[in-house]
Amino acid sequence: MSDQNNQTSDPDKGFSRRNFIKGVICSGVAVSATSYLFRASTLLAEGGNSVGERLITLNVNGQQRRVDVMRQETLAWTLRYKLGLTGTKLGCDRAECGACTVLIDDVPHYSCSVLTHTVRDKKVLTIEGLANRDGTLHPVQQGVIDEQGFQCAFCMSGFIMATVGFLKTNSNPSRTELAHGISGNLCRCQDYDKILTAMMRGAENMRKVSRA
Ligand code: FES
Ligand code: FES
Repeated sequence: MSDQNNQTSDPDKGFSRRNFIKGVICSGVAVSATSYLFRASTLLAEGGNSVGERLITLNVNGQQRRVDVMRQETLAWTLRYKLGLTGTKLGCDRAECGACTVLIDDVPHYSCSVLTHTVRDKKVLTIEGLANRDGTLHPVQQGVIDEQGFQCAFCMSGFIMATVGFLKTNSNPSRTELAHGISGNLCRCQDYDKILTAMMRGAENMRKVSRA
């Protein structure tokens, strides 16, 4: 696809779909949803008095992070609102959409359905921890750039994390196998064909990297 075709608005400002997607992939902060913002404010009102909070240490993206957590606090909540890792999205907040997917000891999990204190001895990987320190994108992230996958991209970090986790068990999946492997993730824009193409490209990129 040419860059000319990728221009979506205001070419004078150099804004393109390609640049937009790259920004979201790296920081995960460009998209918001009224549903989770509403839920966040409600939960804060209910539990914001820090009663029962306990200081624990988490291994997130290779770093030891000290954080106060409540007994009933979910990992998604801790990541987003206490550690500032907003690339992990909250869609349904009830284990239905996969937007909050992170890897725990290399296995994809819905972080909205994991209590934070249960992962103290485990390694948590979020979308922010995928790229190399020098800024080189993870091959699956690069697949999204290559194929211009996703529309609004709210579901993107969850799909990428689910795909990265799946590829650890099957590095050369068929399209059908990968579709099945990441079927726990939903896209409200229903852009599934394009997403799958991007994830397949990511798988191909990973194989190229491992052969190099
Ligand atoms: S936000 Fe966790 S599965 Fe939807
Ligand atoms: S691209 Fe919009 S929710 Fe998936």
